[in-house]
Amino acid sequence: MASSVQAQLLQTRPFQFRSSSSARPTSLRCICSAAAPSTKRSYSITLLPGDGIGPEVVSVAKDVLLLAGSLHGIKLDFQEKLLGGAALDATGVPLPDDTLSVAKQSDAVLLGAIGGYKWDKNEKHLKPETGLLQLREGLQVFANLRPAKVFPQLVDASTLKREVAEGVDLMVVRELTGGIYFGKPRGFGTNEHGDEIGFNTEIYAAHEVDRIARVAFNIARKRGGKLCSVDKANVLEASMFWRKRVLALAEEYSDVELSHMYVDNASMQLIRYPKQFDTIVTNNIFGDILSDEASMITGSIGMLPSASLGDSGPGLFEPIHGSAPDIAGQDKANPFATVLSAAMLLRYGLGEEKVADRIESAVLETLNKGFRTADIYSAGTKLVGCKQLGEEILKSVESHVPAAAAV
Ligand SMILES: NC(=O)c1ccc[n+]([C@@H]2O[C@H](COP(=O)([O-])OP(=O)(O)OC[C@H]3O[C@@H](n4cnc5c(N)ncnc54)[C@H](O)[C@@H]3O)[C@@H](O)[C@H]2O)c1
Repeated sequence: MASSVQAQLLQTRPFQFRSSSSARPTSLRCICSAAAPSTKRSYSITLLPGDGIGPEVVSVAKDVLLLAGSLHGIKLDFQEKLLGGAALDATGVPLPDDTLSVAKQSDAVLLGAIGGYKWDKNEKHLKPETGLLQLREGLQVFANLRPAKVFPQLVDASTLKREVAEGVDLMVVRELTGGIYFGKPRGFGTNEHGDEIGFNTEIYAAHEVDRIARVAFNIARKRGGKLCSVDKANVLEASMFWRKRVLALAEEYSDVELSHMYVDNASMQLIRYPKQFDTIVTNNIFGDILSDEASMITGSIGMLPSASLGDSGPGLFEPIHGSAPDIAGQDKANPFATVLSAAMLLRYGLGEEKVADRIESAVLETLNKGFRTADIYSAGTKLVGCKQLGEEILKSVESHVPAAAAV
């Protein structure tokens, strides 16, 4: 039987800008109890601004959420908590207990980014990134949805030729709580030759592969009906096992066209002919790398949102970029990825489709008006900073041009 996440994904095409959806069940929390849009009008959101540009982009997304929510009669209560380097500096740990406990009790979590040069040399358990991994594990969000869609207005911002980039619309479904990032044994030691070593373990249990594959099959079914499972089954036992489980599940999804690709080839094909992909499912580490690569097709990592969902409890919504210490504090960050993550929060986390549609339309309208941060700037457009772009998005939220008309 389909789990709650899958039940939801069966009913909505993720990250679709053009269609204004009719009433459909979308909230991870809602679908845990009822297959209906949310009737709740008040939500608690945990904000984790984090480090670097995190606070700058989260501040924009918070204002956008507040305005869009209020225009639809929704009350949002924000609780801001520490994560990453900011938490290390204030409390000595990258994920304070208080942060995890407040996040777990909220309806959804919006994260900026964590990390920075200052903490790069810390021991592993005192690195900002450790806090993020602990958060994902603590919230048990095993399915990471990373859409990569080329906005018509930004085709020329892509480093690929226009004919290669135009029309790309793919979804990377990354397994998020297993594989080599969590596998044991791991650590440092000395080998039989007396050489120092570092080692990790790529390991997947059947239920971990099955649940992420089901999510991906269901997403593919609602998108273009094509699923490409990426692995390294020519070398790695963990990948051979991954492929075996995905193949076995395919019998339940005869309407989805399943293919398999080795990760080295997939990384090449993403640049050569990205339009061949509809939905990609892959493990934690390959998904991490391939989704960053896919982001560049779209022009900037500053455009891409993500949603991380589990079977129950709040989802975690965050841009796929990091804390960008090279531009932090300079008002240069592109807030679109975080604003679009806020839209995913509304759609997948709260079941508030209309508010999500409104925010996505506002992003398109702001692009149509020509406003750009430096990372997506091209001649003839208007270069603005993070704050001004935020103000322009707010104006578009207020005026609300429906997405279909905006593109
Ligand atoms: N989820 C996360 O919080 C996350 C993800 C990746 C990296 N990190 C951390 O972030 C730090 C920096 O990592 P990195 O440099 O490899 O990756 P990054 O994503 O922070 O930056 C890569 C490049 O993209 C640019 N960039 C990123 N986001 C942007 C935005 N919104 N607008 C404009 N330009 C943007 C940066 O200026 C930089 O040139 C490290 O400490 C890393 O561990 C955190």
